Amino acid sequence: MPTPATAFGHPVVPGPRTSSGTSAEPASADTATTPDPTTRAERPTDPLLGYAVETAADPTLLDRLPLDATRRTWIRLSAPAGCDAWLIGWPPDTRTGWHDHGGSRGAFHVLRGELVESTVRVNTLPTRIRERVPMAPHQPPPLRLTTGRGRSFGPSHVHDVHNDSPTTHAVSLHLYSPALPLMRRYAITDGDFLLQTIEHAEDW
Ligand SMILES: [Fe+2]
Repeated sequence: MPTPATAFGHPVVPGPRTSSGTSAEPASADTATTPDPTTRAERPTDPLLGYAVETAADPTLLDRLPLDATRRTWIRLSAPAGCDAWLIGWPPDTRTGWHDHGGSRGAFHVLRGELVESTVRVNTLPTRIRERVPMAPHQPPPLRLTTGRGRSFGPSHVHDVHNDSPTTHAVSLHLYSPALPLMRRYAITDGDFLLQTIEHAEDW
């Protein structure tokens, strides 16, 4: 998908739909899984995450992804109709930056290494370029997803995903439904949450 600069950051979709006084995405829209280390991994209840886990079970998958020591890499995978699926490689200390998914739901599953997901809590997301909104005093703690773990998220989800390992190349599998039409990129500036750019699928 997208250009190296945008692609997985993972793409974003239509107008942020946020609820006043909550995080950018309702908590009920998210699920996470932790595999049972002794038996078979429990099947996630979210269909997107379930598909990601099933696809990740293919032992040949990792061999198909070219890795680069300095930048993230990705390949597009076959996916259910109307969805996007991407396999992404994360060299040490690479990240997406803050972004949403343009209104698409999504899920990602870690096949190798660990990823740290940060989310933001604001009353409402900025909708115009360079618009900024104050961040809530208390922000959600980052979520660390180790190998075999994953999460799903709803259409207003905003996050920053980071491979904070100094040595390990991480790999993750991402699903979006519908296929990402656009992605908004945000930044934190002086305690405010700022809308920087909007990237469209045709730019990827
Ligand atoms: Fe994302």
